[in-house]
Amino acid sequence: MGMRIVGLGVVLGVLAIAGVATAQDAIKARQAEFKEFGRRMGAIKDIVIDKKGGTLAEVAANAEHIAGKIPQIPSWFPNGSDRGETRALPAIWQNFADFEAKAKNAEELAKALVAAAKSGDQAATAQAFGKLGQEGCGGCHRPYRRPEN
Ligand code: HEC
Repeated sequence: MGMRIVGLGVVLGVLAIAGVATAQDAIKARQAEFKEFGRRMGAIKDIVIDKKGGTLAEVAANAEHIAGKIPQIPSWFPNGSDRGETRALPAIWQNFADFEAKAKNAEELAKALVAAAKSGDQAATAQAFGKLGQEGCGGCHRPYRRPEN
């Protein structure tokens, strides 16, 4: 009897540790996806803002990657993944519908950047890039990401 209770305690303890590990895995995985967003936005900036060379076709390909991934963002934030090494704010889970709306808005802006780049219009592409960064990425980071210390 006593042994069974101890056994149950061990099982629950293991499950609790597994839960923490899963949350930290989710955090690591989403941070890697976001880093890739950052890398690709940097590559786009090099081309359309800093004119370091590169083509609008490359801009479109990078923006397409981002536009294709953004709809997954809400699924990268399972319950409990506000604890650990993360800058995600608890406000995400208190306003999840709004968080999803912010992702949807960013997706539309990323698609607009794809369309602008494919049209071949440099100025429109630069403008769409600025809008995605400010309103799409920034529009979610401002309310939902803790500033870096
Ligand atoms: C719907 C919300 C949302 C959108 C849209 C969004 N982000 Fe984020 N982003 C976050 C949150 C929340 C974090 C913090 C994640 C964490 O630390 O667990 C984050 C983290 C990051 C990070 C830091 C990753 C790291 O190394 O820890 C980068 C870089 C980033 N985002 C880039 C972008 C770019 C670029 C875009 C637009 C193309 C974008 N994000 C769009 C919510 C969003």
